[in-house]
Amino acid sequence: MVVVIEGKKVASTVIERVKDAANELSRTSGVKAGLAVVIVGDDPASHAYVGAKSRMAKECGFASVQHTLSSETTQEELLELVGTLNQDPSIHGILVQLPLPKHLKSEPVIQSILPEKDVDGLNVVNAGKLAIGDVKTGLVSCTPAGAMVFVRQTHGEDLSGLHAVVVGRSNLFGKPMAQLLLNANATVTIAHSRTRDLSAVCRTADILVVAVGRPQMVRYDWVKPGATVIDVGINRITSPERGEGKSRLVGDVAFEECSETAAVITPVPGGVGPMTIAMLMANTIIAAYRLTG
Ligand code: GUN
Repeated sequence: MVVVIEGKKVASTVIERVKDAANELSRTSGVKAGLAVVIVGDDPASHAYVGAKSRMAKECGFASVQHTLSSETTQEELLELVGTLNQDPSIHGILVQLPLPKHLKSEPVIQSILPEKDVDGLNVVNAGKLAIGDVKTGLVSCTPAGAMVFVRQTHGEDLSGLHAVVVGRSNLFGKPMAQLLLNANATVTIAHSRTRDLSAVCRTADILVVAVGRPQMVRYDWVKPGATVIDVGINRITSPERGEGKSRLVGDVAFEECSETAAVITPVPGGVGPMTIAMLMANTIIAAYRLTG
């Protein structure tokens, strides 16, 4: 029988620890951890994610500040806001929700966030620290950090001898995920849209991690029997069986059929998603301790 990872449960244990740490910080040094979330434009999915992040920050006892900027915001205005947040001692974590509207360049904005407040782990300093295996002073991108919790829960700390395949090579997920797996001694392949015979590459994986944004791309015969499958995709598809105009969320993995071949699998929704928010809270409290300690 396949084991379906309960992301919500795992995330809530992380959140409980964050709340304890936030209480402790406030008790011992009178500091309230502060998270600033910046969103530009009116993409409904991004607004939903940002709302969930701000709400969870409040629940953790943080000072949660949301900056909602119009889609006409200029590059200079956005950089100025990040500069102000960098200087603000009550803010310990800064997140600029991606993607930004097309007229804005995300890279200069991301790189302008102080590495110590970069709770997304996207600044080159944090990406570099991860690349050299320094997770003690850097901050790690939230979704890969969350996926790694599931991997460790299933396989332990040492992945020696295991082959991990990461499908997707984004800075936000694929690259940091591969680094985390490598740091844990896995043998790692990064596959992507230009990989030849992707299904055959996936079939060699003991740990298969998929983040490509293509609904239900991974089929049962892409999965090695007994593998661990981590699905990072969140895709909204129309679902006529639920009625006119109805939609539902699915991952990049065809969940039902892959449950027949995998030993361990994450569902969508309720798998990696809740962990992303939990790890964002964890990064914020880590940043708050480091900046105030
Ligand atoms: N958009 C989708 N996921 C993320 C994330 O983890 N961080 C940011 N900043 N934007 C996102």
